[in-house]
Amino acid sequence: MNLHRSVCRHKTALAIGTVSSFAVVLVFLAKCTSETQKQGQRAAPGLAPRPEQQDPPTPAKALAAFLVVLITTGPKYTERRSIIRSTWLAQRDADVLALFVVGTQGLSAEDRQNLDTEQGRHRDLLLLPELRDSYENLTLKLLHMYSWLDRSVDFQFVLKADDDTFARLDLLKEELRGRGPARLYWGFFSGRGRVKTAGKWRESSWELCDYYLPYALGGGYVLSADLVRYVRLNAAYFKTWQSEDVSLGAWLAPVDVRRTHDPRFDTEYKSRGCSNKYLVTHKQSLEDMLEKQQTLRRHGRLCREELRLRLSYVYDWSVPPSQCCQRKDGIP
Ligand SMILES: *[C@@H]1O[C@H](CO)[C@@H](O)[C@H](O)[C@H]1NC(C)=O
Repeated sequence: MNLHRSVCRHKTALAIGTVSSFAVVLVFLAKCTSETQKQGQRAAPGLAPRPEQQDPPTPAKALAAFLVVLITTGPKYTERRSIIRSTWLAQRDADVLALFVVGTQGLSAEDRQNLDTEQGRHRDLLLLPELRDSYENLTLKLLHMYSWLDRSVDFQFVLKADDDTFARLDLLKEELRGRGPARLYWGFFSGRGRVKTAGKWRESSWELCDYYLPYALGGGYVLSADLVRYVRLNAAYFKTWQSEDVSLGAWLAPVDVRRTHDPRFDTEYKSRGCSNKYLVTHKQSLEDMLEKQQTLRRHGRLCREELRLRLSYVYDWSVPPSQCCQRKDGIP
């Protein structure tokens, strides 16, 4: 009897605590927003700083999945999305949630209309209204999509991919089932990326080191959900460099993560060819994707013929990063 009463009291207290802290958060958010505006929007839109203890108690999330796939893509790349839907996203399991991520701020009426039609048909677009979709904004896009993901989906792992990436979701899932659920940063790492001073990949404000910090190349990598949460909670403090993958590597630099280098991620700026071992392969044309899907369906393997265009490496974490990545024969 006594026990029962105290449980009830505890519940009521919890409920009151929930309501009042939620109200505090709302007031705080309103205040925070107006201050951010006064400061001329210094923090990224939608990412204003917010002390962790002020977070509302986690409400039940609307979506759940074991593996989330977030594919960054531009408003106009309807055809790429369509090919991806009919190739490597086709026949995926129910515990995989795949979304194409597009910023919609400032879109033309025509682009907007087309996206709405596509959304009506497929329901697989993650539209970010606070983000103008541009090459310069890719890093900001990453922050927005991971923030949305942490707030909205109950998930274990996320694969970030580009719209010219081909991925083996069945195999990725199988491997992920066997891995611990925490602190995973899995992809093809580089530790000796020279800071680019010109061209499309120019980084004008990288001041930390002669090289980039070790990072997984952006054509495809996997993060566990706890790291996505870490990114969301700290988003307002992060510096955004031009390259999104370089930025993520820097954000995760002080974190105790399992950096898991895997040559089966063919995610360099050009593909190393075709290996039946590949889990993720980047820089794929629409024809490449169709061919890979067809070969998979007919023969149960990825490549019509295996092909080696450049050598690969196993990352050596025991030497300084500038010597990390010696290319050798015999590595996929
Ligand atoms: C990046 O996105 C923000 C927010 O949508 C926008 O104000 C800004 O103009 C964008 N920058 C570029 C270069 O597109």
